[in-house]
Amino acid sequence: MKVKKIMVIGAGQMGSGIAQVCAQAGYELVLNDVKDKHLERGLEVIQRNLSRQVEKGRMTEREKEEVLGRIVRSTDLQDAKEVELVIEAAVENMEVKRQIFAQLDDFAPDHAILASNTSSLPITEIAAATNRPEQVIGMHFMNPVPVMKLVEIIRGLATADEVYKTIEQITHTLGKVPVEVNDFPGFVSNRILMPMINEAVYTLYEGVATKEAIDEVMKLGMNHPMGPLTLADFIGLDTCLYIMEILHDGFGDDKYRPCPLLRKYVKAGWLGRKSGRGFYRYE
Ligand code: CAA
Ligand code: NAD
Repeated sequence: MKVKKIMVIGAGQMGSGIAQVCAQAGYELVLNDVKDKHLERGLEVIQRNLSRQVEKGRMTEREKEEVLGRIVRSTDLQDAKEVELVIEAAVENMEVKRQIFAQLDDFAPDHAILASNTSSLPITEIAAATNRPEQVIGMHFMNPVPVMKLVEIIRGLATADEVYKTIEQITHTLGKVPVEVNDFPGFVSNRILMPMINEAVYTLYEGVATKEAIDEVMKLGMNHPMGPLTLADFIGLDTCLYIMEILHDGFGDDKYRPCPLLRKYVKAGWLGRKSGRGFYRYE
């Protein structure tokens, strides 16, 4: 199927990044969020990222304006009526996602593909909220989207081969590398990454070392670009907690229990970089 117009739902850190790379690849883009102020914030991030590319001589001012000109804002899911692909990047909550997909099933054209950027929720269950489960698929980008090459592509139980192939091909047009994964909690990326982050939080909770020491050990000792607590702040502590809960529920294994300190920070509203405070403080 030829895809020309894409809708991205959620203008947060992931949605704004996905919208940026799609618009840069030449797709027409509808960016949707519940409130104008969230769209404003997402568009500011896109603008800043593009301006940096202009400063570095990788893009002209005119090209930047063309990319921005391809992005239309929306606070109404009915705007899905003209798109061939939707990529949902709203909050990591099954009820919210199922509601969004049920509405998209009503509004989007019959041939449209509905993709979710979920970090860990079962694609099969999201697909079951629609009457087109064969056209629902996981398209899991990594943060920060403009920089990271991977897109994990998750087949739900009913996902059609043709839909998989279309998404694989679109991923290539975005300059990303698709990797095929089956539908299990946390897929591959967060099945492995999040227990490591959770263990780092336990290491802090149990007083084994300071947060700085834990991060330094993993950066210098394992050559990770960011220590696990810095990375948790970067991902969002709420998202990290949701993912651990999904692993815990999905496998029923206590090895995935979220650290109480992670819960406490999320309850306090310390969500990491996006809220100004997590394990560290941010300007
Ligand atoms: N948005 C856009 N571009 C960004 C960016 C952002 N938020 N942050 C950094 N960049 C760009 C910079 O502009 C710079 O670009 P150029 O090289 O073209 O000039 C480049 O990235 C490198 O940036 P810096 O030199 O400032 O910093 P760095 O070398 O420390 O790299 C980083 C920053 C790429 C974020 C690096 O620290 C890193 O790779 N961290 C780990 C990220 C990671 O693990 N992501 C996966 C998270 S898990 C996930 O996404 C899945 C999930 O479901 C939770
Ligand atoms: P975020 O909190 O930065 O942004 C979420 C956005 O979704 C907010 O702007 C919010 O207003 C909007 N939203 C909430 N409900 C909505 C609705 N019903 N309709 C439209 N918009 C709605 O979160 P994020 O970090 O961008 O994560 C978004 C999704 O991407 C989650 O499913 C998350 O698990 C996944 N993800 C996150 C990361 C990460 O590192 N943060 C990486 C990969 C995937």
